[in-house]
Amino acid sequence: MGDQVLRTDGLTKHFGGITAVDGVSFALDSEECCALIGPNGAGKTTFFNLLTGELEPSEGSVEFHDDDGWHDLTGLAPHETASAGLHRSYQITNLFPTTTVRENVRVAAQAHGNATSRFWRNVDAFPEYVDEAESILERVGLSAKADDVARNLSHGEKRQLELGVALAGDPDVLLLDEPAAGVSSESVDEVVDLIRNVARDHAVLLVEHNMDVVMDLADRIAVLHQGELIADGPPTEVRDDDAVQEAYLGGYDPDAPTASDDGGDGSGTTGEDGGGVA
Ligand SMILES: Nc1ncnc2c1ncn2[C@@H]1O[C@H](COP(=O)(O)OP(=O)(O)OP(=O)(O)O)[C@@H](O)[C@H]1O
Ligand SMILES: [Mg+2]
Repeated sequence: MGDQVLRTDGLTKHFGGITAVDGVSFALDSEECCALIGPNGAGKTTFFNLLTGELEPSEGSVEFHDDDGWHDLTGLAPHETASAGLHRSYQITNLFPTTTVRENVRVAAQAHGNATSRFWRNVDAFPEYVDEAESILERVGLSAKADDVARNLSHGEKRQLELGVALAGDPDVLLLDEPAAGVSSESVDEVVDLIRNVARDHAVLLVEHNMDVVMDLADRIAVLHQGELIADGPPTEVRDDDAVQEAYLGGYDPDAPTASDDGGDGSGTTGEDGGGVA
């Protein structure tokens, strides 16, 4: 295990009468892939939004560690947490739909390298970003699709491109919100391989409902339930935890055939009802 790279202390978000994230103290190591799971509405996306500054916390703090020590990110804007080293993908894709795959990655690389450039749209003027984009496209398996317009990609390819856009920001920590959601069963293995590859040199925090993907990738699992962190530990321990079973995993059978085994309906996925939570 590496050193801690990201930590929260008592992180809380109220929306009117709802407490979406409730006093979460959590830390991510620099060399781990941690899965954040929990039923629909548990607060996972809100937790991501608090980390990256899309939302301001009601209480608590977010801190990020780099070579200069700990930095308080609490209340910073998304572009500030991104320049600190925190990048994310979205539960709903967030690409430039009418530009090409290559341009999506180039613009992200250029935005990271020179966020204030007056030549924002003229990506060809910056050959270093062209090279960087090509190598990222290769890494995420999209070289052959580089000239395609982003909106014409399959859902799985869009998730690959999102990862490429996130990588173009040269992140220390990648926050991935349901990277396998909506990906066809044939493509899930590709997405898993890609994340495994990326997780070798980045800290990854992954929200995912597909428990086969989670068990495949995660070094550690944290479980949110009604905004609270109810478990945090090694995958098999968390999977077998009684409170987690009751809150979320009631329907999960690790020995059941997986979506990618049988080409079926994603039987390894805990569904919309969150596995029977009240
Ligand atoms: N902007 C908002 N305003 C009001 N309530 C919100 C807002 N965003 C989220 N919520 C509420 O906060 C709770 C947590 O929602 P969140 O989207 O974080 O859950 P989630 O764990 O990501 O769920 P899912 O698995 O369905 O993506 C829910 O009750 C949701 O309705
Ligand atoms: Mg969500």
